[in-house]
Amino acid sequence: MKEKKPINIHEVDQSEGDSNQSDLRRNWQEKRSAQTKKQLAEDEKYFIHQALSTPCLNVIQECEGIYLTDIEGKKYMDFHGNSAHQIGFRNNYVVERLKQQLDVLPFTTRRYTNLPAIELAKKITSIAPESLNKVLYAPGGATANGMAIKLARYLTGRYKIISMWEAFHGASLDMASYSGEPMFRENTGPLMPGSLHIPPFSNYNGLWCDDNKDNSEKILEYLEYMLGKEKDVCALLAEPIRNTSVHIPPADFWKNVQYICNQYNTLLIFDEIPVCLGRTGRFFAFEHFNMVPDIVTMGKGLGGGIMPFAMVMANEKFDIVSHKAVGHYTHEKNPLAARAALATIEYIENEFVLVNVRQHQDYVRGRLMHLKGTYDIIGDVRGIGLLWAIELVENRSSKEPASLATERIMYRCLDNGLSFKITGGNIITLIPPLTITEPELDTALNIIEDAIKQENNKSSQS
Ligand SMILES: Cc1ncc(COP(=O)(O)O)c(C=O)c1O
Repeated sequence: MKEKKPINIHEVDQSEGDSNQSDLRRNWQEKRSAQTKKQLAEDEKYFIHQALSTPCLNVIQECEGIYLTDIEGKKYMDFHGNSAHQIGFRNNYVVERLKQQLDVLPFTTRRYTNLPAIELAKKITSIAPESLNKVLYAPGGATANGMAIKLARYLTGRYKIISMWEAFHGASLDMASYSGEPMFRENTGPLMPGSLHIPPFSNYNGLWCDDNKDNSEKILEYLEYMLGKEKDVCALLAEPIRNTSVHIPPADFWKNVQYICNQYNTLLIFDEIPVCLGRTGRFFAFEHFNMVPDIVTMGKGLGGGIMPFAMVMANEKFDIVSHKAVGHYTHEKNPLAARAALATIEYIENEFVLVNVRQHQDYVRGRLMHLKGTYDIIGDVRGIGLLWAIELVENRSSKEPASLATERIMYRCLDNGLSFKITGGNIITLIPPLTITEPELDTALNIIEDAIKQENNKSSQS
């Protein structure tokens, strides 16, 4: 058995989120009440410690709309929400439908189907492009991705998967193999054979981003080269828009990828788990790229931010492995989860949530671009819909990541009632509920500006 080693915070991989073991984290927790500290200590006593969760940041008592409330009664606007809060927390419409469902059929044995499961399948395939007309449900995102890969393996008779370095597709061992973040891969023993990686796409100086770092041509060349050498690759798995770091490829990128994949009979699987359901201003993120992938996975907010739930979508021509088990999970057709998803989609449609996102996109972009023009520590601003990133640098000429300043900004914002997560050490990732109003966005952006201003003044004085 290995001994517990002291952690050097500078060696901690922060690609997926901010560290739960830094000095600034400990300082922030020192300021909590005795009651909070007691509960956090209890939590630490019973839960297995791991990066990004235990030790936890705070103890939450209640959630509603865009807010989390801790046990001290302090409210935080939550611009993180694990990307599961598209329709806000504890959405009343979904809660009411879940209560009705709970009273009738909260679970059903496998072998039986149920009405919410069928209704949801009908609904989602009516929203998706025609070619995505078959579904399979899953209890979580990593599981849905695993099912998509399994299906692709059955269909092609191949096993090699290409994915992108820096990507995240779930914390399970198979998804760690296809993800590209060291925290999930290192020291886990052998990963899946045939996990091949290509570099991630970076920023695009076009519709959505103001910094010219487009590397997409090189990636296409490398992909073509790689497929030409390997020849028997089963599928390419990727997020159409990288959620955590908010990287968005050019509008023709995925069409070109698909064209290359088609030459080698390699399937294209899109992981839309965090970005589906209107986050980008369209129901599916791939709609921005004028193409349709072979297989799509959705999750996170699909369960209304209440039920764990995910889904695989594919064309009926892929429905040819009826003698094999693609999923077979206990909660596959859970009627409560299906009801939550159905109610979530109904809410998005009835409340014109996508229209709200598209309207707010321009407002947020305008404000963030203004911040970039004003503060030298902002190296880049990028985003789409209500998915935005602010990348902080020591100064624009050096472009050195300003990790400590970013962490200080995060804790200052928390003090002022705004929660978000940091990606890659120096990227502030802003993922608000899609139901947010302009005054609420304004308040949040004022809190961010105030915190950035203080750091900027510090850095310009030093
Ligand atoms: C892009 C992406 N894919 C897959 C997953 C995994 O989803 P889950 O945590 O539900 O397994 C995540 C979770 O953060 C994600 O961001």
